[in-house]
Amino acid sequence: MAEISYLTQREAAEIDEVLMGPLGFSVDQLMELAGLSVASAIAEVYKSNEYSRILVICGPGNNGGDGLVAARHLYHFGYEPVVCYPKRTPKTLYTGLVTQLGALSVPFLSVEELPQDFSTDFDVIVDAIFGFSFQGKPRPPFDDLVHRLISLNNLSSTAEKSPAIVSVDIPSGWHVEEGDLDSEGGIKPHMLVSLTAPKLCAKKFTGPHHFLGGRFVPPPIANKYGLHLPPYPGTSMCVRIGEHLALDVSAMRQNYISPEFLEDHVLADPIEQFRKWFNDAATAQVREPNAMALTTVDKEGKPSSRMVLLKGFDENGFVLYTNYESRKARELSANPNASLLFYWDPLNRQVRIEGTVERVPKEESEAYFHSRPRGSQIGAIVSRQSSVVAGRHLLHQAYTELQDKYADGSLIPKPEYWGGYRLTPTRFEFWQGQPSRLHDRLQYSLREAEGKRVWQIERLAP
Ligand SMILES: Cc1cc2nc3c(=O)[nH]c(=O)nc-3n(C[C@H](O)[C@H](O)[C@H](O)COP(=O)(O)O)c2cc1C
Repeated sequence: MAEISYLTQREAAEIDEVLMGPLGFSVDQLMELAGLSVASAIAEVYKSNEYSRILVICGPGNNGGDGLVAARHLYHFGYEPVVCYPKRTPKTLYTGLVTQLGALSVPFLSVEELPQDFSTDFDVIVDAIFGFSFQGKPRPPFDDLVHRLISLNNLSSTAEKSPAIVSVDIPSGWHVEEGDLDSEGGIKPHMLVSLTAPKLCAKKFTGPHHFLGGRFVPPPIANKYGLHLPPYPGTSMCVRIGEHLALDVSAMRQNYISPEFLEDHVLADPIEQFRKWFNDAATAQVREPNAMALTTVDKEGKPSSRMVLLKGFDENGFVLYTNYESRKARELSANPNASLLFYWDPLNRQVRIEGTVERVPKEESEAYFHSRPRGSQIGAIVSRQSSVVAGRHLLHQAYTELQDKYADGSLIPKPEYWGGYRLTPTRFEFWQGQPSRLHDRLQYSLREAEGKRVWQIERLAP
């Protein structure tokens, strides 16, 4: 990817004109997408359970409109936005945005009602005051608001947690091309959300989080202005530009907030309990709830882990499919003890399962093999999993040959070296994250009682 493009003030204005002229966009549409991008970028970095109180300061123009839209989306994302919109624009678009926020009971505060010192009442402050068309010096009441934002600069290095400033497209008071020209220092945002494409001043941005939003740039614009912009991931409305400057692994921690998970909530049968949590994970739209880490141990007792997909479970155990000559398979034949681990992030849940594995009957592997897409069947034949390959082209070559061979749609035989394993569990642990690290951990272990095997449930210290 070529280096990212930055726009001059004139180019930014021209692009807006082309978008809203020959390319058929309305200002409402662009504003909606811009505001949604800002809210999405905020939600990516500032989680609502820690940063719920958001002040959105809106200027009189389009930048302020983006702020109003962002406030609405933030509300729907679970935040508690408060809006300061001192110079209202009497156009239907803007009055509509205000009405929409009113219907959500989002409070509007006047400049006088805002605290003089922003440091304690808010977790995030959205600076949607001035955009790329602004020139000159901020006038009242915005000069004062910008000052209150500037006075947070020194705080951020000393206070344990001062509000994070998020600037929409341009940090207010900065020069659109030159950056911060204030001799005493202007706003130093923590996050900048550039819209459409970053403006030249964004090169001077030194905060930890720079995002791009406004996922609407069509090829005619990108080609005309030679724009190089990063691709947006999946369906996301924003994309991080540059590095994650604040990446401090040691400081990464979430305070989990989940319903309590108590002994009298759990089902007596761990498979049924697993089924319940697995359904919850699927409902919570975990992308691959059946992805799990499989840990095996070699004959010297050295462990190794890798992700695999769970392909079925019932009272007989947990089934996965793989190559019987792979490293994991070699380790499993030396030592059948293995463990499975699931982590379902949106639910703050982890499940550990331990037991022994054995191969599933051949007919079961056959049936599953033929249920897979033909491409995957051929891939399984081509890959002598875990062996050294001299180059990717060899895999492609073998794949194409087999594709031709079976182009007539005939049955692709399952290779001997491919099939399933079933893990018969002897121990489960269901883990539910809770605030202050006081997590719930309920363990099921198989015990003998009066000649019968029963699951004993115990709570473990977190
Ligand atoms: C999400 C995910 C799912 C995977 N599912 C499987 C699977 O079901 N079976 C498999 O053999 N490999 C799967 N893999 C690839 C394995 O992680 C691993 O690379 C491969 O099985 C070789 O491991 P080994 O050399 O330790 O035997 C998956 C990888 C990921 C990231």
